Amino acid sequence: SDPSSSRRGAFIVFEGLDRCGKSTQVSRLVERLEREGRQARLQKFPDRTTAIGKMIDAYLQSKADMDDHAIHLLFSANRWECAAAIKRDLAQGITVIADRYAFSGIAFSAAKGLPFDFCLQPDKALPLPDLTLYMSLPQEEASQRSQFGEERYETMTMQQATREQFGLVAQEVKRIHGEYRWTEVDARGTIEEVEERIRGLIGDLIEGVDGEISQLWV
Ligand code: TMP
Ligand code: MG
Repeated sequence: SDPSSSRRGAFIVFEGLDRCGKSTQVSRLVERLEREGRQARLQKFPDRTTAIGKMIDAYLQSKADMDDHAIHLLFSANRWECAAAIKRDLAQGITVIADRYAFSGIAFSAAKGLPFDFCLQPDKALPLPDLTLYMSLPQEEASQRSQFGEERYETMTMQQATREQFGLVAQEVKRIHGEYRWTEVDARGTIEEVEERIRGLIGDLIEGVDGEISQLWV
C-alpha cells in the first residue's frame, strides 16, 4: 500500500515585508509542485475576491477609511472565511501554500500601535501552518528594491515598525508551537538563488504530513 495515501497535505505559509519577493517565490513554488505532478494550491491573504476582501482592498487603496481595530478584525474574518477550504484541501492531500497569513495580521496592526494581545486573539484556532518561511531582506536592500506602490503601509516608517513586530511574532510562534515551525529565509540574491534556499528548507514537507492539522495559538 502507498504510505503517502494516509497523509494530509502540508500547510506552508510565506511571510515578510512588502517587496521582499514573497509573491514571486510563492507562485514559482506552486508551479514547480504542479510540474512535478503534485497537487498544490496558492492561497493569497488578504483574499481580495470575497465581500470582506473587497472592503480590505478599498481600505488598502485608501478609497475607504476604517478604525484600526475594525480593519484588523476584517483581515482576520477574511482568513476565517477561507479556513474550511484550507482544511478540506489539506485533508485531500493538497499542499496549501499561503502568501501571508495571521502573522502579517499581527505585525502590521501592532506596528500601528494596537496591543499585541488584541492582535493575536481573533486568529486563535485557525489552522496552524506546518511551516512558516519568513523572507528577510535588510532595510538597505529593501529600499533599493522598493518602488513602493500607492498602497497604505508601503512607507519606510511603517515597514520598519512592522519588521520589529515580525520579530516578536516569530518568538511567540517558536515559544508556543516549537522552533521548527518558523524559519527565516535570506531573501537576498537572485530569484533562482532564493528559490533554491526555499526548496531546501521545505524538504520533504511536500510529500505530505502525518496527523491532524493543529490550531494556531492553542
Ligand atoms: P499584499 O500586498 O500581500 O496584498 O498585502 C496587502 C497589505 O495588507 C500588506 O501591506 C500587508 C497588509 N496586511 C495586514 O495588514 N493584515 C493582514 O492580516 C494581512 C494578511 C495583510
Ligand atoms: Mg502589497
